[in-house]
Amino acid sequence: MRSDVVVMVGLQGCGKTTWVAAHLARTHAVVSKDHWPNARGREARQRRVLHELLGEGRNVVVDNTNPSPKERAPIIEIARRHGATVRAVFLDVPLDVCLERNAARTGRARVPEVGVLDARKRLVPPVVEEGFDRVDVIRQGGGAG
Ligand SMILES: Nc1ncnc2c1ncn2[C@@H]1O[C@H](COP(=O)(O)OP(=O)(O)OP(=O)(O)O)[C@@H](O)[C@H]1O
Ligand SMILES: [Mg+2]
Repeated sequence: MRSDVVVMVGLQGCGKTTWVAAHLARTHAVVSKDHWPNARGREARQRRVLHELLGEGRNVVVDNTNPSPKERAPIIEIARRHGATVRAVFLDVPLDVCLERNAARTGRARVPEVGVLDARKRLVPPVVEEGFDRVDVIRQGGGAG
């Protein structure tokens, strides 16, 4: 069976990790640069792990902000190389809600606000033309999505 790759897209604090835990934990291996907070070269490492998991026939979800085509293109390329389906899940959550949710987090989970603002500036909503089989947009109006 073809593997499935899911590329999460959304600002810090929008709820990606929460959504992944609720919807994909049973079916997909989770890859995230957050797993290696201090490692240099974690971009390359993430690509290598994605490649390895697909080689084992696993489904994979890439749980990072992935705000622009620049971050998403290499993931799509690796997925295609393995003959996997690849879709984007875009959590379209307003900036102020992301900032609130981020501010409510504690410890390492809370990121500097400037990082969220920077990601907002770079955010380009995913489209199928980038090479996705499908793009799912989830808009949260306070519900669990
Ligand atoms: N649908 C939701 N409604 C209300 N709160 C939520 C919802 N989803 C997530 N949260 C809360 O918002 C905060 C951020 O969620 P989460 O850690 O999943 O975001 P994230 O997108 O993974 O952020 P990061 O990019 O920094 O990893 C958490 O405290 C979480 O409990
Ligand atoms: Mg997260």
